[in-house]
Amino acid sequence: MLTSGRDILLNEEEKLVKESIKQFAEDKVKPLARKIDAEHYYPTELIPELAELGLLSVFVPSEYGGSGMNNISYSLIIEELATVCASTSVIVSAHNSLAIWPILKFGTTEQKKQYLPLMCTGKSIGCFALSEPGTGSDAARQTCTAKEDGDDFIINGVKNWITNAPVSDVCILLTMEDASKDHKGITAFIVDLKTTEGISIGHKENKLGICGSPTASITFDQVRISKKQLLGERGKGFRVAMETLDGGRIGIAAQACGIASASLNDALRYSTERETFGVKISEHQMIQTYLADMATDLEAARLLTYTAAKMKDEGMQYSKMAAQAKLFSSEVCMRNSHLAVQIHGGYGFVKDFNVERYMRDAKITEIYEGTSEIQRLVIAANLIKEQSN
Ligand code: CAA
Repeated sequence: MLTSGRDILLNEEEKLVKESIKQFAEDKVKPLARKIDAEHYYPTELIPELAELGLLSVFVPSEYGGSGMNNISYSLIIEELATVCASTSVIVSAHNSLAIWPILKFGTTEQKKQYLPLMCTGKSIGCFALSEPGTGSDAARQTCTAKEDGDDFIINGVKNWITNAPVSDVCILLTMEDASKDHKGITAFIVDLKTTEGISIGHKENKLGICGSPTASITFDQVRISKKQLLGERGKGFRVAMETLDGGRIGIAAQACGIASASLNDALRYSTERETFGVKISEHQMIQTYLADMATDLEAARLLTYTAAKMKDEGMQYSKMAAQAKLFSSEVCMRNSHLAVQIHGGYGFVKDFNVERYMRDAKITEIYEGTSEIQRLVIAANLIKEQSN
């Protein structure tokens, strides 16, 4: 097993989390990973086991039935799952960081009591609906509307690219109440997807990668929801979305580290088995250069990711670091998976080996929860703000 400088950052409890999740991922998730990819299969049978291990309630305190872990442990969980199956890792990360976390942070005690215990058991899965067909990177330009009507709101609009939508019960929904106020007109809600009238889930998207993670649009047609479903204050939804995404980006950085790590492991194994010109290909200096770059980039990506996680755990301002971790790790993930295919040559291009899956899975890490271009904007905006303070 390859050593990592990341481990110096871990305490004994976190090391135990890493070891137990690694074992679980190897024993239970890895055997399903090819089926999940090839058949675009949602691994229903894993959900109770993920819940049993506390992986569907990572941040939730025990009073609501959760496992109450920190962001370092969360990153380890997502990285270890992604090392064997990127689809499973994003099913888990979207549920924890995009659905549960905003309820914990912005929800009322009543909302926490109502939603969290069931979400911790996996009987209720969560998703986060911000993007729309015409609204992606420019998240403030929401067109899904919320109109006040007595004690209720009426919601109309379409949300797009929603991870977990086809299997979700609970949705964190961002709406526009007053477009004249720009981002200050945005309001967040918690919506019961399966029991509220007027909601329809689109077809499952046919994706390049992370094929077992179900993604779909959600359409709201004259949907009536009570004011009790407001998440945070009216007009403060943009902050709910931005803070949620800050944390989510640590999860995607960890996912990227997992895929980058799997790419390195497989490339290394193959290069010490495959022979050309009478020697193992790992003896060729060009291959060694690839392996050295992959390993060094991975270590740097992990250090950014686990530093961002630690900063969040310590209550520090971590927006910039989360964006740096997500930007760098996702680009390393893409490079490592690409090099792993290159090292495998023709064998890397066929489905007998896993590296072509890693390359397909890698691409989305540069896109979702904020593209690489958006991460650069976030980093630069934070630098300029820091300079002027
Ligand atoms: N935390 C708290 N507040 C924040 C914040 C943060 N991280 N970032 C911005 N804000 C606040 C600002 O302080 C400002 O506050 P005021 O009300 O006091 O003015 C306000 O929000 C507006 O900030 P900006 O002027 O910076 O906003 P902007 O319109 O220029 O947008 C952006 C900034 C960073 C580009 C933002 O639109 C963004 O993050 N876009 C990307 C969206 C994204 O990641 N989408 C992915 C969707 S989720 C997904 O992928 C689907 C899935 O299911 C996985």
